[in-house]
Amino acid sequence: MRIAVVCCSLNPESRSAALAQHLREPLARAGADTDWIDLRDHPLPLCDGGAAYGDPAVAGLAQRLARANAVILATPVYNFDVNAAAKNLIELTGRSLTGKVVGLICSAGGRGSYMSATGLVASLMLDFRCWVVPRFVYADDGDFGPDAAPAPAVTQRIDALAHETARAAAALPPAPPKR
Ligand SMILES: Cc1cc2nc3c(=O)[nH]c(=O)nc-3n(C[C@H](O)[C@H](O)[C@H](O)COP(=O)(O)O)c2cc1C
Repeated sequence: MRIAVVCCSLNPESRSAALAQHLREPLARAGADTDWIDLRDHPLPLCDGGAAYGDPAVAGLAQRLARANAVILATPVYNFDVNAAAKNLIELTGRSLTGKVVGLICSAGGRGSYMSATGLVASLMLDFRCWVVPRFVYADDGDFGPDAAPAPAVTQRIDALAHETARAAAALPPAPPKR
């Protein structure tokens, strides 16, 4: 089983990307091969609904996502939503996620933005028929120690997310791409 982990923050000191690193061990334990995609390493054009789809960087990422049995998105919360880079990725490559299991890790400044991924989740479900794992990781400033390490309660939730994503992906045969 192949699980793509996509780090959507463009911040060189991203917390969501650091949280995503804690997926590696539990995903390996679940027997998954991890395809690591960090958007900081893959500059993408802004989606224009047209020519951007032909950009080689877009096509390459779309292929990698299409090959995955499941995808875990690690994203910052910006303005009570996922960041623009995450949304741009879905605008550009969402079809590659059709019918797949999708898990989420969100990094935010405060607890009040807990529902911020709801719009993205609805789009994944309604546009692309994704099976969104009903256990997502949400961490805010209070979940990190002075050494920047996440609290054990957060790494336990990441462990559970990895387990549930792999369990759901194992149960679902690959879906044909959306037409
Ligand atoms: C432009 C911008 C908007 C933000 N909006 C929110 C917000 O609406 N709610 C919140 O809790 N945190 C907000 N934050 C804080 C980020 O979610 C927080 O710094 C998070 O760790 C960013 O993830 P990253 O470190 O992976 O980039 C915002 C930060 C920035 C830069």
